[in-house]
Amino acid sequence: MSGSPILKAQGLRKVYKMGRSFLEVLKGIDLEIMPGEALCVVGASGTGKSTLLHILGALDRPTKGTILFEGRDLFAQTDEKLAQFRNETLGFAFQFHHLLPEFSALENVMMPCRIAGFSKKRAEEESEVLLARLGLSARLHHFPSELSGGEQQRVAIARALVRSPKILLADEPTGNLDRANGRQIEELFFELKEEFGLTLVVVTHDQSFAARFPRILTIEDGRWKT
Ligand SMILES: Nc1ncnc2c1ncn2[C@@H]1O[C@H](COP(=O)(O)OP(=O)(O)OP(=O)(O)O)[C@@H](O)[C@H]1O
Ligand SMILES: [Mg+2]
Repeated sequence: MSGSPILKAQGLRKVYKMGRSFLEVLKGIDLEIMPGEALCVVGASGTGKSTLLHILGALDRPTKGTILFEGRDLFAQTDEKLAQFRNETLGFAFQFHHLLPEFSALENVMMPCRIAGFSKKRAEEESEVLLARLGLSARLHHFPSELSGGEQQRVAIARALVRSPKILLADEPTGNLDRANGRQIEELFFELKEEFGLTLVVVTHDQSFAARFPRILTIEDGRWKT
């Protein structure tokens, strides 16, 4: 792969303050991700994988270090600009889908479009297309409690992709699913990556999922294991 990185992290540190003591979780992480790459991050529990993913996704600010998105300093922006950037450019999928329980599948997927100011009609159209792609045309008006675990995760993935993000970040997206549903979601990630030209960053404990990625990085004690 040539060209310049879509995301470049330099010297990321994250320190949590706990009362009078400090917990240094990330101790200097550098990372370059090229457009269209599929990267998997692994490591033991508590090593800082989710912390890193949140920072890469601009959901949290590092204590030190910078992230350049297409060469621009992400954290030099106001929180408001950062939120807009997230909504437009990044998609997130988590272990627990975080769907809003009082909204239907369709309404959950429409949410990022509505936040961005799309008309109801346009939001609905785009969400329906995506839900159809994920095999959920017959489930548009189901509430999350009326969907299976695999269906809930697919709705969450539709919501992550509805604004056509450049990067999809996923934190143990199969962690809460049985094997068959997990495999289905895995397949979907690689299919969608090609279809949407996504850059993929996935954290997983599942070794067989990790093994499918061309690039795997391991965190150990707040740094990349070499
Ligand atoms: N808000 C916080 N305040 C204080 N400590 C935190 C906070 N968030 C996470 N930590 C601590 O930071 C460390 C890294 O947490 P993180 O969630 O990034 O780990 P992880 O690698 O994703 O683990 P797992 O595989 O179990 O999900 C943990 O020891 C955790 O207790
Ligand atoms: Mg985690």
